[in-house]
Amino acid sequence: MKVMDSAFARGFAKMADDGWQLRFHERNGGNLSYRIPAEEIEAVREDLNLTGDFLPIGTEVPGLAGEFFMVTGSGKYFSNVLAAPEENCCIIEVDEKGERYRVVWGLTKGGRPTSELPTHLMNHEVKKQASGGRSRVIYHCHPVNVIALSCVLPLTDRDFTLALWQNMTECPVVYGEGVGVVPWMVCGGRDIALATVEKIKSYNVVVWAQHGIFCAGADFDETFGLAHTVEKSAEIYVKVASMTAGETRRQVITRENFIELKNSEEFKGLYINPEFLK
Ligand code: 13P
Ligand code: ZN
Repeated sequence: MKVMDSAFARGFAKMADDGWQLRFHERNGGNLSYRIPAEEIEAVREDLNLTGDFLPIGTEVPGLAGEFFMVTGSGKYFSNVLAAPEENCCIIEVDEKGERYRVVWGLTKGGRPTSELPTHLMNHEVKKQASGGRSRVIYHCHPVNVIALSCVLPLTDRDFTLALWQNMTECPVVYGEGVGVVPWMVCGGRDIALATVEKIKSYNVVVWAQHGIFCAGADFDETFGLAHTVEKSAEIYVKVASMTAGETRRQVITRENFIELKNSEEFKGLYINPEFLK
C-alpha cells in the first residue's frame, strides 16, 4: 500500500489541518509526530526507501530503537500538510541504538524532520514506557491564549493547572494530572528536551513559556482534543481577565467542587492530581 492510502497518514494530515484551522500554527510554527505500530509500517513497506544514510538525532533514545515515526518537516507550514503530505512530512526510521535516524518516505522537495525532533523522540520514549505502549502521538503547537497566560501567570505547574482547571469542568476531567510548565528556554535542542521530559513524566501537557505547548496521547483525536481543551480554557481565562480589568475571577470551580466531582457517581474513577487539591 502507498503511505498516503493508509489510515494513519490520512489521520496525521487531518490533525495537522485541524490545528491550522484553529490557528494553532502561524507560518511553520508547531510540529507533530506519530509512533507507527509495526503492522501499520508493514502495510506500507513497499512505499519506503530503506537505503538512505542515518544521521545523528542529537540525543539518545534507546527505548525507541528500530521504531518508525511520521513527523512534520522543519520549516514546513501546517497549512500545506493536507494538500501535500509527501512534501511537508516524512517517515523516519530510528537505528538499532536509538542514536540516529534516516528519512524513508516524504520530504519530496527536500528538507529534514522538525527541529524539535529531540524533544519529540525523548517524550515518545518516556510516554511509551509509562503507558505500556499506548501513547503514540506527540504534538507541539503555538496556541495564542496559553502563550498569553505564560506572560502573566507565575510559571509553576500549580498556578497553570488551577488557572486552567477552574474555568471549565471538562478540564480536570480531561487532564486530571494537571499541566507542567517549562520556563523560557532556547528551543530546538537537547536542553529543552530534557526539561520537557522531566515534566511529561507526570503530565500529558507541558507549557513552554512564551512559546507554546507539547501534548501526548494515544491517538490523533485524543491528543488534539487535549490541546484544544487546554487552549479553550486559556481563552476563557483571557476573556474573563479582559472583562474584569485586573480583578480576580469572582466564581471559579473550587477545591471542594473538584473533590465533589472526583467522588461523584457520574465521574466514578476520575483521577484528579491530589497535589493540586491541597
Ligand atoms: P520546525 O519548523 O523545525 O518544526 O519548528 C517549528 C517550531 O515550532 C519550533 O519550536
Ligand atoms: Zn514551537
